[in-house]
Amino acid sequence: MNFADSEVVGAILTGAGYGLAPSVEEADFVLVNTCAIRDNAEQRVRHRVRELRALQGRNKRLRIGILGCMAERLQSRLMAEEENVSFVCGPDAYRRLPQLLTQVREGQHAAEVDLSTTETYADIEPVRLASNGISAYISIMRGCQNYCSYCVVPYTRGRERSRDPETIVAEARSLFEKGYREVTLLGQNVNSYSWGVQDNIVGFPELMDRVASVDPRLRVRFATSHPKDLSDELLAVMARHENICRCIHLPVQSGSNRMLKAMNRKYTVEWYLDRVAAIRRYLPDCSITTDVIAGFCGETEEDHQATLELFRKVRYDYAYMFKYSEREGTYAQRHMPDDIADEEKTRRLNEIIALQGQIALENNREEVGREYEVLVEGESHRSKERLFGRNSQNKVLVFDRGDAAPGTYRRVRVTDCTAATLLGELVG
Ligand code: 5AD
Ligand code: SF4
Repeated sequence: MNFADSEVVGAILTGAGYGLAPSVEEADFVLVNTCAIRDNAEQRVRHRVRELRALQGRNKRLRIGILGCMAERLQSRLMAEEENVSFVCGPDAYRRLPQLLTQVREGQHAAEVDLSTTETYADIEPVRLASNGISAYISIMRGCQNYCSYCVVPYTRGRERSRDPETIVAEARSLFEKGYREVTLLGQNVNSYSWGVQDNIVGFPELMDRVASVDPRLRVRFATSHPKDLSDELLAVMARHENICRCIHLPVQSGSNRMLKAMNRKYTVEWYLDRVAAIRRYLPDCSITTDVIAGFCGETEEDHQATLELFRKVRYDYAYMFKYSEREGTYAQRHMPDDIADEEKTRRLNEIIALQGQIALENNREEVGREYEVLVEGESHRSKERLFGRNSQNKVLVFDRGDAAPGTYRRVRVTDCTAATLLGELVG
């Protein structure tokens, strides 16, 4: 999400005559795009901003601005707390950045943090930053109003709004024509994508159908799906298009109904397992990944065991695993004590990590001997003699270079694995 936002900011500033500096030492402005979802994300930003102070000592022109969710959450407070920050700009105010930078150049401090109910930056063609020229993100909606009780996103990114499907399809087509072979459609809850009125509504399944029809050689991925809204209709569209990737990110957060209720997730473990069964029915070779939170308010050992049990049942291919981090202003912070000791959160998290590591390795061992179509992305980080790419399931495959080239599709047979990577050989 943030990466896609930085690309929109890049386009707005390029349009106003600014360019990327060759290095931070030569820059007039450093814009730090930020996430506020957990406290450790914010601490990393503060650390980075303090590091930049030394650079400002040597380069007196340098001004620092904070963009994104942390700017929205803390607003002008951030400039009082971090004295070397000259401006803050929230996620719906990026169009005002050129004016903001002018004010800052005139020596003022400035804050733009108004949220919008309509801004989607639909007409802005993002500047692809640090791109491999093969895969790109397309933002299809902004904001979230699910109000999961632990989550700050509805407060920092505002109301949910969808982007005009014509502009999304046009962006996908333009990327394909430039040689891109993979797009990932992004939103906090893509399943509630909705454009139009009454009898003429484009929902997410139809949007996927349209984007997948741009060209069968363009792979389409998406994130994130809220389990409450994952429909059979979407799974049917996926089954019809081979180029829609066989990988669904379905954040579960907890395996305990009591915790899911406290988290305001609006589904039960039974509902979630029914959705997993539907995925396996429509798309037998689909990988499933998740997010989980350890040590949410009031979580008992029994609740934690239920999460481990759910992990054993679903057998995820990958999981993003977090300790609960209390966020100011959320329902949980206002009404529920953060009562699990940090060491206990860490213990539970480590148990989930260990179990998931074992499951991922076992899943990967079953892959040995299978063949996949891989979109080649580039050189392996470890060796120039090897390339890496991903299969439709989003698993990374590393293989001897042979005559393969980045940006092409090749067949690779899996010969070995670790918990994170499949090793293979070119077979076509
Ligand atoms: N503490 C820990 N993890 C959180 N997430 C969201 N809010 C919090 C929080 N307060 C996690 C959820 C979400 C992912 C993007 O971040 O698992 O799916
Ligand atoms: Fe946060 Fe829940 Fe919205 Fe995801 S769906 S962004 S966890 S409020």
